[in-house]
Amino acid sequence: MSQRRVGIWLIGAFGGVGTTVAVGLSALRRGLAEPIGLTTALPLFSKLDLDDVSAFEVGGHDIRRTDFFQSVREFQHRARVFPPELIEPCRDDLLRWSANVRPGTIFNSGPTIARLADLPEVRPTESPRAAIDRIQADLNAFRRENRLDQLVVVNVASTEPPFPLTEAHQSLDRFEAACRVKDHPPLLPASGLYALAALDLGLPYVNFTPSLGASFPAALELAERRKAVVAGQDGKTGETLLKTVLAPMFQKRHLRVLSWVGHNIFGNRDGVVLNDPENKASKIRTKDQVVSSILGYKPQTHVSIEYIESLDDWKTAWDHIHFEGFLGTRMVMQFTWQGCDSLLAAPLVIDLARLALHAQRRGEVGALHYLACFWKNPMGVQEHDFFKQFALLEQYVEQVASERVAPAVGS
Ligand SMILES: NC(=O)c1ccc[n+]([C@@H]2O[C@H](COP(=O)([O-])OP(=O)(O)OC[C@H]3O[C@@H](n4cnc5c(N)ncnc54)[C@H](O)[C@@H]3O)[C@@H](O)[C@H]2O)c1
Repeated sequence: MSQRRVGIWLIGAFGGVGTTVAVGLSALRRGLAEPIGLTTALPLFSKLDLDDVSAFEVGGHDIRRTDFFQSVREFQHRARVFPPELIEPCRDDLLRWSANVRPGTIFNSGPTIARLADLPEVRPTESPRAAIDRIQADLNAFRRENRLDQLVVVNVASTEPPFPLTEAHQSLDRFEAACRVKDHPPLLPASGLYALAALDLGLPYVNFTPSLGASFPAALELAERRKAVVAGQDGKTGETLLKTVLAPMFQKRHLRVLSWVGHNIFGNRDGVVLNDPENKASKIRTKDQVVSSILGYKPQTHVSIEYIESLDDWKTAWDHIHFEGFLGTRMVMQFTWQGCDSLLAAPLVIDLARLALHAQRRGEVGALHYLACFWKNPMGVQEHDFFKQFALLEQYVEQVASERVAPAVGS
């Protein structure tokens, strides 16, 4: 196993997903948990030179005054999501990593996210340039202090409202010109500032949220220029994962889906933010598009997300699928998914960090289309069928594996 030292920088570190990533990395490196839920722990991925989970140092940004250990305890109290015997042995790692978390920015993130912030350093009046400089200084300090060979930046912060793109976002030249215009209306929300800060340093950037992040042409051009990789957006962990597994079945059996209704209820902090109709709009957009894309036609669809406080991190989704079979006979499929949101998401974040670091080492650049199976809204490819998406990943692994073998054969 390689001796590389790598870091994962979590934007939104002390949230449910960020905290579970930190607990997970600590538990895995201490041999206290099996890598269940990590796709990259499947035998297929032993063909890649991925970083061992014990190689990761953790840092990040947040806008709230807390730490990983406090967040674990709060989580445990509210939702009982972690095996209690894991918490004490992980304490030292969690406290050490908490010291690496810096105040972030809420620039242009909307009032619901601003209400979460309780750190004086999170200044809404700070200019975007000053925020990017501060973020970059934090990233550089983390790399230096931990003597890291590589660092990946992952956005697991609260979902921002949709951000309208303009002509200025369509190329890096136009974007930079707009930045020079005095009193120009804000060109980005916070997620975009973090993305530009990371890409400008040539760091791999992963957007686990539906927020804008690096999903606009100027950011992708910057990634090309700085030779950085980008992956996103919006992790596919629960109801949408099932949709993209089941819709291909209806399509391949030539059963006509008439309507697909999905009701989601949950009560964690993500739910508080998504309870704001503006923030919710970003999520519904990524959840609602997948079925029509796979079927090739648009049945009536409806997605609802409701905040039900008592459920906390235990998300329940009820889906009702009305479909037509032979001779026009109508039938129904229903499913209930009761998943623990952060525990479904965290292993994927670790997978994505390992794969993005690997891609960057190989000299890949831009959007990593072969990671589509991880996303509700994959960048770089219009494919939502989970099986076809996973085939892309398998092909990639086989291709890299054959390239690794080839020099030995020729020598
Ligand atoms: N299964 C899943 O949990 C899942 C699946 C797909 C996507 N996501 C997305 O991942 C994100 C995190 O989910 P969560 O359940 O951990 O939410 P959470 O509310 O528990 O955590 C979000 C964290 O981000 C912090 N934050 C908010 N704005 C910030 C900013 N501008 N800069 C730095 N930190 C900021 C908050 O203080 C909080 O600690 C959400 O956007 C969610 O939609 C989660």
